Amino acid sequence: MSDTDAGRIDALRTLIRRYNAAYYEKDAPLIPDGEWDALMRELRALEAARPELVTPDSPTQAIGGAPSTVFAPVTHAVAMMSLDNAFDHDELVSWAERLQRRLGGDVDAGAWVCELKFDGLAISIRYEDGRLVQAATRGDGRTGEDVTHNVRTIASIPEVLAEAPPVLEVRGEVFLRLSDFSALNRRAEAAGDKRYVNPRNAAAGSLRQKNPAVTASRNLSFWVYQLGQVRGGPEFESHYDTLQYLRSLGLPVNEHVRLVTDGVPGVLGFVEEFEGRRHDLDYEFDGIVVKLDSLARQRELGSTARAPRWAIAYKLPPEEQITTLVDIEVSIGPSGSATPFARLEPVFVGGVTVTTATLHNQDQVREKDVRPGDRVIVRRAGEVIPEVVGPVLAERAVDSVPWEFPTACPVCGVALVRPEGEARHRCPNYDCPRQVRGRIEHFAQRGAMDIEHLGEQRVDLFVTEGLLADVGDLYEIDFDKIAHFEGFGETSVANLRAAIDASRSRPLGNLVFGLSIPHVGSTIGEVLAAAFGSMDALMEASHEELAAVEGLGPVIAASVYEFFHHERNRTVIEKLRAGGVNFTGPEPEDVDLTLVGLSIVVTGTLEGYSRDEAEAAIKRRGGKSPGSVSKKTTAVVVGAAPGASKITKAEELAVPILDEAGFDRLLATGRLPD
Ligand code: IVH
Repeated sequence: MSDTDAGRIDALRTLIRRYNAAYYEKDAPLIPDGEWDALMRELRALEAARPELVTPDSPTQAIGGAPSTVFAPVTHAVAMMSLDNAFDHDELVSWAERLQRRLGGDVDAGAWVCELKFDGLAISIRYEDGRLVQAATRGDGRTGEDVTHNVRTIASIPEVLAEAPPVLEVRGEVFLRLSDFSALNRRAEAAGDKRYVNPRNAAAGSLRQKNPAVTASRNLSFWVYQLGQVRGGPEFESHYDTLQYLRSLGLPVNEHVRLVTDGVPGVLGFVEEFEGRRHDLDYEFDGIVVKLDSLARQRELGSTARAPRWAIAYKLPPEEQITTLVDIEVSIGPSGSATPFARLEPVFVGGVTVTTATLHNQDQVREKDVRPGDRVIVRRAGEVIPEVVGPVLAERAVDSVPWEFPTACPVCGVALVRPEGEARHRCPNYDCPRQVRGRIEHFAQRGAMDIEHLGEQRVDLFVTEGLLADVGDLYEIDFDKIAHFEGFGETSVANLRAAIDASRSRPLGNLVFGLSIPHVGSTIGEVLAAAFGSMDALMEASHEELAAVEGLGPVIAASVYEFFHHERNRTVIEKLRAGGVNFTGPEPEDVDLTLVGLSIVVTGTLEGYSRDEAEAAIKRRGGKSPGSVSKKTTAVVVGAAPGASKITKAEELAVPILDEAGFDRLLATGRLPD
């Protein structure tokens, strides 16, 4: 050991060993309990920060005996019960009414205590004469497992309580803060280990470690929410007062405990408030626990075999569910990028029924090792698009085989390619029907030629019917034919005609953006229009002239040059000219300030924007584009090879994550996708 941490750890261990020997072996304590506790806390904190320095003989690991190798059974003096659930406001109200009736109708039930329902692992901790002597998991409610050594490593659980009664048993939840969960996963990834699927599982796994040093390194946390038994201590009349007392003893009671004295409306007020704050906290909660405050009334009501009658868990819609992954398919994007996604047995998660979830790319499928037929965990938190977290390996079929990325484009059958250094596969076929449609949809979108009444379905129809092969065809489209299609009345044909007409006079920058030139987003479209002033000048620009334009890197310059020197693109441009589309300035008007007050972080490589362009596009619209994700971030835009920490942070804070298409829409409308 050479650094300062190591030195301090060494010194603390020596001191604590001496004090322990005096306390345990000679029954002659050398220091007050509080001071001993402070030393232990300091040592635990240092060991948690430097897990590599944890040794099996450290006092944090060996208090009261050798580290546990098995979990001995522990019989709970007072059974650890479960809670009945309410799944909507009505069920919650009926429960309160039922309870009121049981109490005798005209008796006022009195105050309620609302608490968060933490998503972790229940434990019971026993203190004797103020010293932590035993900690056990809930187990089956009557008998749990002895996890004393592991619980001793949890920094927020005091080893010693000042002025505690002779016997005090408290119940609470062991959990992992989201920040500690991310840190744990970062370490797992760095070590080449599998990521933990969620904080709950990680917390449970961390608590049930045979080696307490491992538990210590996980930084578990704890909230106490209930008194088990107390002997020789104060008498309480109310649950709320009990919690205040436990807090006064130094036990960690959550800050969002509320005594509600204005009846069920007040309870519903708490529920609604925290339904909206689900992603504001550094730990997960999956419901609200409502408890009758009066302990006398609690006794009067009693319990069923399973759960007390005086409490209920109002469950929030689950954000993770298990379902069957029916198949993995690949969708081809408008520009040819091939994205694997999971087709799922429909599952209600995060408040909606989910049938598909993205798997991003080949590497992600490999890393998660999800396979068709697997039972998988699907997550949909907040507004973020649903994702497959991972497989439930215990339920995997014995004959399952890893999924292979398809070799051919599912739309046109041409072999897919994965360009060197890129995460995404692509369909290289310019004439792939998906890409043909994609280019027309791109051309018609807001921010480009903004052609109303030309949605995806119509583009699909017109392409399938042979009316459109490229965007140039739009300006000589056969409206007589369209009038014969089902669903096209006179008005809708007239509307479409007017919309196409109106698009002829869009600013040049919109047109340049609409052409689907690789790497040219709306900002570069405007930059090019402003720099060259006309389509002809742009088409004739040399590579050097393009490269000299401020804001254009060599990659974009090469891409633009190549685009305009390709015969097929020239043909389309001539069709547009013949169709009367505006090819010259005036320079595009200033863009709308759609992003005022919004903060958008960009990570990874986008196809249509360099990093500077993406930031410039955000700033031009009045938004901010900081380099890191925080609570204030409105959205994170994710391109290829994004920064893992930004994504993790966004997930932690439930900041919506957008792909490039979502970013385009956000720029155009200032709104996040629904
Ligand atoms: S009170 C006898 N309060 O929920 C009542 N439980 O489904 C004891 N839980 O096993 C439970 N947060 O693990 C209570 N604020 C809270 C809670 C809570 C989470 C868990 C606990 C319990 C489970 C019951």
